[in-house]
Amino acid sequence: MKTIFPIEKFRELETPFYYYDLDLLSATLKEINRCVSGHPFVVHYAIKANSNPRLLSEIREAGLGIDCVSKGELKVAMDCGFSPRSIVFAGVAKTDSEILAGIDAGIRCFNVESREELHIIDQLAASRGKIADVAIRVNPNIDAHTHKYITTGLNENKFGVDMEMLDSVISDALSLPNVNLIGLHFHIGSQITTMDAYQILCSRINDLQEHVAQLGAKIEIINVGGGLGIDYDNPDNSIPPFEEYFNTFSQLLSLRPGQEVHFELGRSVVGQCGSLISRVIFVKEGVKKRFVMLDAGMTELIRPALYQAHHVIQNLTPQSGDTAVYDVVGPICESSDCFGEDELLPVSHRGDFFALRSAGAYGEAMASQYNCRRLPSSYFSE
Ligand code: LLP
Repeated sequence: MKTIFPIEKFRELETPFYYYDLDLLSATLKEINRCVSGHPFVVHYAIKANSNPRLLSEIREAGLGIDCVSKGELKVAMDCGFSPRSIVFAGVAKTDSEILAGIDAGIRCFNVESREELHIIDQLAASRGKIADVAIRVNPNIDAHTHKYITTGLNENKFGVDMEMLDSVISDALSLPNVNLIGLHFHIGSQITTMDAYQILCSRINDLQEHVAQLGAKIEIINVGGGLGIDYDNPDNSIPPFEEYFNTFSQLLSLRPGQEVHFELGRSVVGQCGSLISRVIFVKEGVKKRFVMLDAGMTELIRPALYQAHHVIQNLTPQSGDTAVYDVVGPICESSDCFGEDELLPVSHRGDFFALRSAGAYGEAMASQYNCRRLPSSYFSE
C-alpha cells in the first residue's frame, strides 16, 4: 500500500509535523485480526510506540488491548476508552503510585520484573484489600540480534527475572497472599526481522512450562512480548509479515488447555503509517559536502541519532528529474542531528517538502523540546 501525500494541504501547515495514513493503519489492524482469528491470541498494543489519541481510537476500535509502562500511559489509555481489563502494566521499575494506579483501575495483569517488585505489589494490593494478578517476566537469555539498545532478553540486561532465580520468585508468588500468579511474560527485543529468535523463544517456553507446572503454578497466560520488525527500506511495501509471525507461535508453542497467548506489538502496528514531514530551510554548499538542512531534527525523530537508524528520505516536491548527493541534516546544535549521509536525491531547493518515512513508531512518542522547540503536531489522511 502506498501512502499518498496531500502536498497542497501541507502547504498551509507549519512544519515539521507528523502525517499519519489512517487507511494503512486500518489495513494493518485488519491483517492482525485476520491472522489471530481462530487462535487463543490476544494482542495488546505497546502504547509506548505512539500514544497519539487518534491512532489509539482506531486501535481500540479494532479490538486490541494496551500494554503500558507508566501511570501516564495508563491514563492516556483509559482516557481513550480502553477498558481496564484490556490493559496490562509492564515496566522494570514501577513506583508505588504507579502500582496503586494499576490496582485501583483494575487492570488485567502486572508484568513483574523482580522479586522486589512482587513483594511491593503484594503489600500495596493488601493495603487496598485486593489481590493483584501478575505475570512474571522471565529473561530467557536469547540474543535477538538487534541493536544493543533495543535487545532486552539477554541476562546482562536489566529486564526480567533471570532463569536461575525463577524458581524462588515463583515460589514467593505462590505463597504471597495478595498476588495471584497467572502468567509468564517474555520480551526479547525490538525490530526483530527473522523468526529464528522467536522459534528459540517458543522452545524455551515449552521447556519452562513443564518445569513451572511441576512447581505447582497454574499458568493461564503466556505473554511473548512484542518486537516484530518493519521494513525500513521499503516504506510502501508496508504491512509487516504478521502471518509468518503469528504462525510461528501457533505452530511451535505447546499450549496447555485454556491457555491464552498474549502479544505486545508496538512498532509493527504503527511504524509504517507515520511520516515526519519537513521543509528544506537551506541547501548549503560545503567544501566536500552538500547539505539539505531541514526544519525537522532529532527533536522530532531521534532514532537516527540514538540507534544509527535509517529512515527513507523522500523529496516530495522535486522540481526536475535531476539528482544530486546530499547529507540530510536537522537544525539542532548536535553533530548527531543527521538523518542520512550521501543520500542520492532529486536536486533540492529551499522550501521543498521532505518526508522521513516509517516514522510512526517511536517518532512522535520520543520527541523532545530540546532547544526550546515545540512538540510536533500531527495530521491525518482523513
Ligand atoms: N513489550 C515490552 C516489554 C517492551 O519493552 C517493548 C518495547 C514492547 C513490548 C514493544 O516492542 P515493539 O513491538 O515495538 O518492538 N525506541 C526504540 C524501541 C524501544 C522498544 C522498547 N520496548 C526504537 O525506536 O527502535
